[in-house]
Amino acid sequence: MGNIHWKQYFDKKAEVHGASVKSSDYFNEESFFMQRANTLRWLGSCEGKVILDAGCGVGAFSEPLVEQNTVYGVDFSEKSLEYAAARGLKTLNGDLTALPFEEGMFDVVVCNGVIQLIEQYEDVLRELARVTKPGGTLLVETLNRNSIQRKLLRLLEKDKKFDRMYEMEELRGVFVKYGFEQIEFLNMYHPFKFVTEGSGQGMGANRFSTSFAIKGRKRS
Ligand SMILES: C[S@@+](CC[C@H](N)C(=O)[O-])C[C@H]1O[C@@H](n2cnc3c(N)ncnc32)[C@H](O)[C@@H]1O
Repeated sequence: MGNIHWKQYFDKKAEVHGASVKSSDYFNEESFFMQRANTLRWLGSCEGKVILDAGCGVGAFSEPLVEQNTVYGVDFSEKSLEYAAARGLKTLNGDLTALPFEEGMFDVVVCNGVIQLIEQYEDVLRELARVTKPGGTLLVETLNRNSIQRKLLRLLEKDKKFDRMYEMEELRGVFVKYGFEQIEFLNMYHPFKFVTEGSGQGMGANRFSTSFAIKGRKRS
């Protein structure tokens, strides 16, 4: 699907499901809240930071950050942004391939469950890197292309719910290219509840995790 179709798709989801995490296409609420808790714990404590939630949808992922930080949310689904604003995000309608922000504006940039929808993902990562301040953190979460479960699911799935998947090493390469260091991975193994953390070198995480998050620190 192209970008315009995803925009319509998520507008429709928000129209039908409102502020619910169903609007963001999560498998169910339990898996969303588990993923959010693990990812935010792994991100580390955030207080008094300026944060960007890129592809924020209805804002459910970064809602816990709103109280102690200034959280901006960008998405091209206007309908979703109404709910994100109600959750306290400062919302802007825009496409992630060209962000309406100055260079180095954010201490932390999170992009959760989005790049699997975007063929031109390198444009998006370049933009996310540009708006991350030197010394700041970029965290991107997406689907693991090397996962055995995903390969099996692909054979059974009738409706394709995303455009592409990623290898951990592929994203590490892009992070390095755009000036990030101290790169780490968080691996998730849906439907199981456990996660693993590390440098991304282990075979198990690469083959068996259904999704992963990668984070890095932008060189000062
Ligand atoms: C699966 S949802 C994830 C929402 C949120 N990050 C979360 O984890 O709950 C993907 C979101 O990315 C947005 N999106 C996809 N491609 C985009 C693009 N090129 N520019 C802006 N938003 C985009 C969609 O509108 C949708 O709200």
